[in-house]
Amino acid sequence: MKKQQRVLTGITTSGIPHLGNLVGAILPAIKASNQENNSSFLFLADYHSLIKNTDSDLTHSSSYEIAACWLACGLDPKKVIFYRQSDIPHIFELAWILGCLTSKGLLNRAHAYKAAISDNQEKGAKDIDKGITMGLFNYPILMAADILMFNADIVPVGQDQKQHIEMARDIAVKFNHHYGELFTPPEAQIGETTGILPGLDGRKMSKSYNNTIPIFSDESVLKKTIMKIKTNSLEPGEPKDSSDCNIFSIYNAIASEKQVREFQTQYDEGIGWGDAKLFLFESLEEFLAPFKSEYAKIIEDRAYIESVLVDGSKKALEISTPIIEDVRKAVGIKGF
Ligand code: ADP
Ligand code: TRP
Repeated sequence: MKKQQRVLTGITTSGIPHLGNLVGAILPAIKASNQENNSSFLFLADYHSLIKNTDSDLTHSSSYEIAACWLACGLDPKKVIFYRQSDIPHIFELAWILGCLTSKGLLNRAHAYKAAISDNQEKGAKDIDKGITMGLFNYPILMAADILMFNADIVPVGQDQKQHIEMARDIAVKFNHHYGELFTPPEAQIGETTGILPGLDGRKMSKSYNNTIPIFSDESVLKKTIMKIKTNSLEPGEPKDSSDCNIFSIYNAIASEKQVREFQTQYDEGIGWGDAKLFLFESLEEFLAPFKSEYAKIIEDRAYIESVLVDGSKKALEISTPIIEDVRKAVGIKGF
């Protein structure tokens, strides 16, 4: 029998769920949760949301919508431990302990922090740390705590998060070196076809860039959104390069290989951008339809969503409690 492995991933609750989240994280994680030798931990990274904004209503409503989204997309609470990060205080205790082991230099190299610094440099700010919070700086430590708290083996994420998983590995190895082998160094699992899904403007699709395709918008909003995708100025009839095309990359993430080949032929034959967008819109409508109808039902049932999460948090605590007890002892925090 294959060894049971722990698969864990979370989504920051700072906006409405988008297609990048769906194909990069939600669907692969749900697929993994259906494999027999996996035990899955899926959670709402609600304290991560505070790094990105100070809008308490947004954090709260986003948590609710992302919870409903997971359930609508097929998360089975009987198979998965599904919880709110904020319900597991051990994670924050562990984050402190890991922070005391993490060198500042490692965090200086984190993408999100480096991007904020270079943004300040470009703007000519006198202080390159202008507007950068300790939350942003420490973000990879909280994420390492999320992962190590449950000794996850595999972390399915989009390409953008790979560096954070590598940092969690480094931190686990360092802890084990100082205090004994308590943590499993985790591995990232990156979707082969999706990598990073581009947004409407060609940058990574992200809540932070306001360039997303929401999963649960109604038809007319979805259509308007798709029509906004940036393209070049080639005319209908002119052959088009699919390798550098946002419409094509998005289609690629939701279609079968055969469908992608057919779309490629249309590019070679010079499909017009309007038609390509319309085709993508219709394909997305079809792809998203089953998730949308489930979501419409679940989002009305506040009590159900709450009870699933309360139940999930109880199960998560049963696992985190003995681990944090061992960690406390290992670092010398114990009764006399
Ligand atoms: P955002 O960038 O919109 O804030 P999150 O950081 O909350 O998204 O990401 C949650 C999960 O969705 C992560 O596993 C992340 O890698 C994945 N993800 C987010 N955006 C994309 C994307 N454009 N392509 C692929 N995966 C993505
Ligand atoms: N930082 C991730 C993101 O914004 C979300 C997240 C938080 C996460 N903790 C995690 C993902 C632990 C995987 C494992 O996308």
